[in-house]
Amino acid sequence: MTTKMAINAKDIFRNQHRLIRFIAQSIRLCSNQSLKAAQAAQQQQQQKSAADFQITASVDAQYTSAPEPVKHDKDLGHQFRASQLSVRLAAPEQLQPKPDNDGELGFGRLFTDHMLKIYYHKSLGGWQRPEITPLENLVMHPAAKVLHYAVELFEGMKAYRGVDGKIRIFRPDMNMNRMNLAAQRSGLPTFEGKEFVQCLSRLISIDSEWVPHTDTASLYIRPTLIGIDPTLGVASSDSALLYTILSPVGSYFKTGSSGAVSLLADPSYVRAWPGGVGNRKMGSNYAPTINVQKEAAARGLQQVLWLYGEDHQLTEVGTMNIFMFYVNDQGEQVLVTPPLSGLILPGITRDSILRMTRQWGKFKVSEATITMPMVCELLNQGRLLELFGAGTACVVSPVNRINYLGQDLYIPTMEQEKPVHELIRESLTDIQYGRVDHPWSVVID
Ligand SMILES: Cc1ncc(COP(=O)(O)O)c(C=O)c1O
Repeated sequence: MTTKMAINAKDIFRNQHRLIRFIAQSIRLCSNQSLKAAQAAQQQQQQKSAADFQITASVDAQYTSAPEPVKHDKDLGHQFRASQLSVRLAAPEQLQPKPDNDGELGFGRLFTDHMLKIYYHKSLGGWQRPEITPLENLVMHPAAKVLHYAVELFEGMKAYRGVDGKIRIFRPDMNMNRMNLAAQRSGLPTFEGKEFVQCLSRLISIDSEWVPHTDTASLYIRPTLIGIDPTLGVASSDSALLYTILSPVGSYFKTGSSGAVSLLADPSYVRAWPGGVGNRKMGSNYAPTINVQKEAAARGLQQVLWLYGEDHQLTEVGTMNIFMFYVNDQGEQVLVTPPLSGLILPGITRDSILRMTRQWGKFKVSEATITMPMVCELLNQGRLLELFGAGTACVVSPVNRINYLGQDLYIPTMEQEKPVHELIRESLTDIQYGRVDHPWSVVID
């Protein structure tokens, strides 16, 4: 072999990951082109069939307003800024192979090549500089508060690759606000949501090839805040880590063949209670649900319908907010969801559905308590039309059966001619995948 040939071979080996990436990108680009054509045709079809539901193209200011930002504690110290962000890229041999088939992604099993980390140390004056690093294990003291008292909270967001190839995130200010409220409740430091979203956006753009190229998958974003103070006192954490990992995801829930889920409604289990933290996305809310979910699965049911109180109020379904579409005593169609009483998570999908359907003006929209006796009565009278869960993971998830006090209640959600939950799903995904321009969708540069 001549020296020149040896150098060329060395170059090829050194750069083979780039070559593979280039080929994969080209293939994806081609498939994206045909996907775009199919999507344009589908969009035209949808516009025809839903002509009386032209809802998402224009939005009033009142339907887009962001929540009030949280006030920081006076002794919090300095904030971090996105302009201070440092980036340490993964070495070529650290890069993980990307999945070939978006249909087999599942939920939260694969992770991208990089992560975002921001430390907080009160003793060092507050929040430290944000950094993007290769995805790596965390090292912490065995006394870290997160390991003993579950001083932890998280968010669930998604990045969507739009039909125009641009990557969008959905109402990130809402997630930031919810996260800060949970931080306040957990004795963890609060932060500037806008700065964090800018850091997140940089992380997503670095790992942008991991954002799936279909409209049935997306990149799940998991911002997490943990107390890492190495002391065993049950007290505020003077050291914390705010980090984010990314995971390409397909569908979250297993459904039956109809696409709907069945639920276990057992009043002997409670997820949240007044004065508790059911309205905050803290890890401590989720661990106690796992065994009940297992019990539901053992009984051949897919999710848990969480009830509360003597009157068996419906609160949430699995990790989703619940909606019911029914006909009231006056013969009017009503979309109802439980109010934000502290028992349920203030879902961003929930809020979006309420704002959007109120703007449609096609039926009544209300926030009111729903009880199991009400559900039974409406079913008996043929007035319950649809029941569905709503959340970032699945947008909407129709329900077709509830096992309640040993009895199966069949819900006709999938039997409606023009189901409302489908219109809601189409309208929200139109915004998320950029088929419709909307201020809720924020493009990542
Ligand atoms: C308990 C619970 N309720 C509701 C939701 C839906 O919230 P969102 O629409 O913000 O995803 C989630 C998901 O995060 C959840 O965990």
